[in-house]
Amino acid sequence: MMDVSTLLTILRSRKVNLWVEGSRLRCSAPVGAIDAELKSALVDQKDEIIALLQADTPPGHLAEAPPARSEQPASSTLQTICREVAAPVPVAPERMTQFVNELRSCSFDLASCAKRLGVFPRLGVNFWASMRPDWVARANDPIDNLISLFIDGRQVNANLFAKQLTSRFVDTALDMGLLTDCAGGVLQANACLFPCYGSYIVTDHPAKNSTINQVMWLWGESFVLGGLVKRSPRRRAVDLGTGSGIHAILAADHCSSVIGADVNPRAVEFATFNAMLNGKSNAQFILSDLFNSIEGTCDLLLANPPYAPDSAAQPGDNFWSGGLQGTDLLRKIVESLPAKLDPDGTAHLIALYPNPPATKTRDHFDMWLGGKIGDWDVLDHTWPVPHYEDLFSLQPYQGDKSAWRFGVVSLRRSASGNGWWKEGAGRGLFFGTDGRCNLVADHDGH
Ligand SMILES: C[S@@+](CC[C@H](N)C(=O)[O-])C[C@H]1O[C@@H](n2cnc3c(N)ncnc32)[C@H](O)[C@@H]1O
Repeated sequence: MMDVSTLLTILRSRKVNLWVEGSRLRCSAPVGAIDAELKSALVDQKDEIIALLQADTPPGHLAEAPPARSEQPASSTLQTICREVAAPVPVAPERMTQFVNELRSCSFDLASCAKRLGVFPRLGVNFWASMRPDWVARANDPIDNLISLFIDGRQVNANLFAKQLTSRFVDTALDMGLLTDCAGGVLQANACLFPCYGSYIVTDHPAKNSTINQVMWLWGESFVLGGLVKRSPRRRAVDLGTGSGIHAILAADHCSSVIGADVNPRAVEFATFNAMLNGKSNAQFILSDLFNSIEGTCDLLLANPPYAPDSAAQPGDNFWSGGLQGTDLLRKIVESLPAKLDPDGTAHLIALYPNPPATKTRDHFDMWLGGKIGDWDVLDHTWPVPHYEDLFSLQPYQGDKSAWRFGVVSLRRSASGNGWWKEGAGRGLFFGTDGRCNLVADHDGH
């Protein structure tokens, strides 16, 4: 029988809307979208779908499914390009602040994007225009134009855009190298620019770029980790595999100091730019192989390490390869926890857990922690991803993925020495239709 997660993914791709009225499951679908097999699966899974919809979403909407790269049938939509793209250039701090203020004042935020594109953390799927062909940007809407330019990578009319934002905004974007003024009076973005929980993050375009070690664009996973972290005051945060710097920049709001580390110099450059753009002077970015160049400990550890099982690229070669098993970097991070995390510290790790059949994520953590998983209280917000599709590797993994999971594992030392492991993700439906994350990984709440 088709599982609910697969069923929902198929229905979503066919533009089928499901909602609950009273205790009844209602459905609207384009003609021909639901064939006999889907109809029978819907009937079989009705109760579970109703329970999911009632538990996770406001009435009337189908929550977006989890945003792992995994279940995206998208490989064909990732263009391969081989073009040098310059990193963004900082300008005077007051101009950068003004630029961000203009984005804020026109409401370029998660809620506005969710209204137009669906739940924003699904961007991993829906920012490729070819995957949501029904969305037509309205030329008279500044947010539509911002999305077109900075998320979809399309050109927009320069005069119109300067009128909707301001010409000062356009000048600053040109001076920072985010935009190019092209022939024919159109603007083209050289990078993506995402709203993210109150900050703005510049990344490389989604594409397979063979000439640069890309800075990963904000994928669903970036929003999941950003949403799940408990934002309480901390002494020192470390963000390993910082990429665009997103997690370090979000941490800078509630931590005295933050250090973001990456092996990719381009990532360090982007992250430093993004910290300046968002006025985060307590965040520092360095080249470091995981903790190798980071002295001392931290009380908040964040990491979205490369995790894709890849037999064609080594870990560190790019933003996705986690080595043959996918867990080379994750394992090293977990092994370093006892030494690098303060006794009252918390680690939030988002990754793919490519568990061989009949093994559980907990088994791997126990092994990496030398058989001492019982020293830790663990919140496991991961969910099954048996249809993971690798978008990048030259030799994608083809074996059994039935036990694979994806999501955030959050660890804190057990005060009693009698640790626990609790699963709490359900199907990973954390996001409301306004783009907000409704769940926080909070050990105190359990
Ligand atoms: C999946 S991306 C995550 C980017 C960003 N943190 C996010 O969540 O959007 C992984 C990042 O880890 C970096 N990386 C790869 N190997 C590393 C290593 N050994 N030490 C530190 N960073 C590494 C990659 O360059 C890439 O920027």
